[in-house]
Amino acid sequence: MNELKQAEIDRLVLAAIEARDQAYAPHSHFYVGAALLMGDGKIVGGCNVENASYSLTICAERVAASAAVSQGYRTWRAVAIASIGGAMPCGACRQFLAEFGMDITVITIDVIDNQRQVRKLSQLLPDAFDSSDIHSHG
Ligand code: THU
Repeated sequence: MNELKQAEIDRLVLAAIEARDQAYAPHSHFYVGAALLMGDGKIVGGCNVENASYSLTICAERVAASAAVSQGYRTWRAVAIASIGGAMPCGACRQFLAEFGMDITVITIDVIDNQRQVRKLSQLLPDAFDSSDIHSHG
């Protein structure tokens, strides 16, 4: 089951806050950290990486997910995302995460007051486009 223990959530939230320390956001000054919790307890983090050519910017969630995949993980149980205001993941990141499973828990953290919100990815991206859409043609 994907039931998260409070201690796991706390550890994941802390990792997201720590990942945010590395954010490279000289253009927006909006610093974001993300951390993914694997089935074996390992945590993989990422931060947003901006570029002077703005559209090349990568969100923290996609950096973390790409890092996890490159370390051999293709499924994870939860993602925590830390920012001022506790922003929800953008649409592109919802889609990017959906590639690897809809049943993950999404926890957002406002780093100012430590307020958390908990969702399922399936709630944040209903009727997602996925590989079944591609394969149904042909
Ligand atoms: N950003 C993220 O890292 N994750 C999101 O889900 C939304 C936006 C970053 C991208 C950019 O560096 C900054 O926040 C402002 O959009």
